[in-house]
Amino acid sequence: AHVYRSAPIVRAAAAGCALSLLALTGCDGGVRGTPGGAGVRDPYFPRAGNGGYDVGHYDLTLAYDPDRRHLTGTAVITARATQDLSAFNLDLEGLEVRGVTVEGKAALFSRAGQELTVRPHDDLVKGETFRTTVRYAGRPRTVVDPDGSEEGWLPTADGALALGEPVGSMTWFPGNNHPSDKAAYDISVTVPEGLRAVSNGELKNETTGKGRTTFRWHTAEPMASYLATVAVGRFEITRSTTKSGLPVYVAVDPTQVKASRAVLAKIPEVIEWAEDNFGPYPFSSTGAVVGRDEDAGYALETQNRPVFPGAPDTGTLVHEIAHQWYGNSVTPRSWRDTWLNEAFATYAEWLWKEDNGGDSAQRTFDALYDDAGNKALWAFPPARPSGAEHIFDPPVYARGAMVLHKIRRAVGDDTFYDIIQGWAATHRHGNASTADFTAYVEKKAPDKDFGGIWKDWLYGEGRPARP
Ligand code: ARG
Ligand code: ZN
Repeated sequence: AHVYRSAPIVRAAAAGCALSLLALTGCDGGVRGTPGGAGVRDPYFPRAGNGGYDVGHYDLTLAYDPDRRHLTGTAVITARATQDLSAFNLDLEGLEVRGVTVEGKAALFSRAGQELTVRPHDDLVKGETFRTTVRYAGRPRTVVDPDGSEEGWLPTADGALALGEPVGSMTWFPGNNHPSDKAAYDISVTVPEGLRAVSNGELKNETTGKGRTTFRWHTAEPMASYLATVAVGRFEITRSTTKSGLPVYVAVDPTQVKASRAVLAKIPEVIEWAEDNFGPYPFSSTGAVVGRDEDAGYALETQNRPVFPGAPDTGTLVHEIAHQWYGNSVTPRSWRDTWLNEAFATYAEWLWKEDNGGDSAQRTFDALYDDAGNKALWAFPPARPSGAEHIFDPPVYARGAMVLHKIRRAVGDDTFYDIIQGWAATHRHGNASTADFTAYVEKKAPDKDFGGIWKDWLYGEGRPARP
């Protein structure tokens, strides 16, 4: 790993401190802290996230020039040390780091792969809140996922689209890139005049000068880094409010306006339906970003404002809106738990159909169970994907939804809706694991035995015996 020095660090080096980065000891020779870990031991993405601190807020000031594909950024990261720290890591893939300060003092830093190691001038003490500023620039990368799909910073016809599930956010800002560390965000993006920048949360202001426009977006509720987004390009904007007063901000690529008009008009209705079924909407605004089909290979439930590459169908809209409760507000503790996101969002599609004159969830379940040709559905158990390349495969979605349907059949509709609403309420704006979920279900229906459902449907290999 290279050790980079900005001017103040040369002074620190003169004082005999430079080598301490490598030794990871204190400048004064005494070790008060140990380095935070380079990952949080995620079973599927071991390098994702970092140990030793907990981020409360990201303040990202970005400027993007689509012609040069050039991003300039300053990230101010406010975090609390969860241990004494002599050094800590941030995740950042690509880009050039121009300088790092911690609490206003120049810090030493080094890079190796996605790990940006920061050695603050002064050791950090457990419990202390500290501010790290990272200045960076360059051409952001696109990341190819283990499953072959693309995420990160995706160039589009007239701008770019940032998608982060599971680990792509580190291509456009440094941070603790794991769902277990959620934070508030302020994201300001400056783009050439005529283009727009759309992000999560609410648009606080928009100012134009010298041929450039700056958009300031504020996300107050905790957000996992994989749900952060920026869309730069030409967009037609529609602002409205739902009956209950929730602001709706929709940005649509001009080529998709006609094709998406009818489905996007359903956003308020879908939100109201989801509130009836899942409980109060967990965020301060909603909306959508509709790009072009070629922008990405999938839709993503980016917080507040899901991204759709091309006009979505109603099922996909329902799916991504349901994720606002299941995934975005109640967020998996690790990438092993993606079924807690995808099974709920898929089951929401089944419920929507059932409630809107389509097949009952039972019928959807039966059709899946009986489809002998659908081998992919039984490839592995929903709660134990067989590898990082499988965390978004059919067992996580449809077979996971079948688990939820089994629970519903076991407890009846009243208790089932109590469970799915209570689950969203109990872990609102937090994190939860599969073990938390099974314990929660058992607590809500103490007279029922879920052993068989967990064993055969959630954790069992292969297709369970006929229900
Ligand atoms: N969570 C997205 C959905 O709503 C899918 C993300 C797929 N990402 C990937 N890397 N394969 O279904
Ligand atoms: Zn999904």
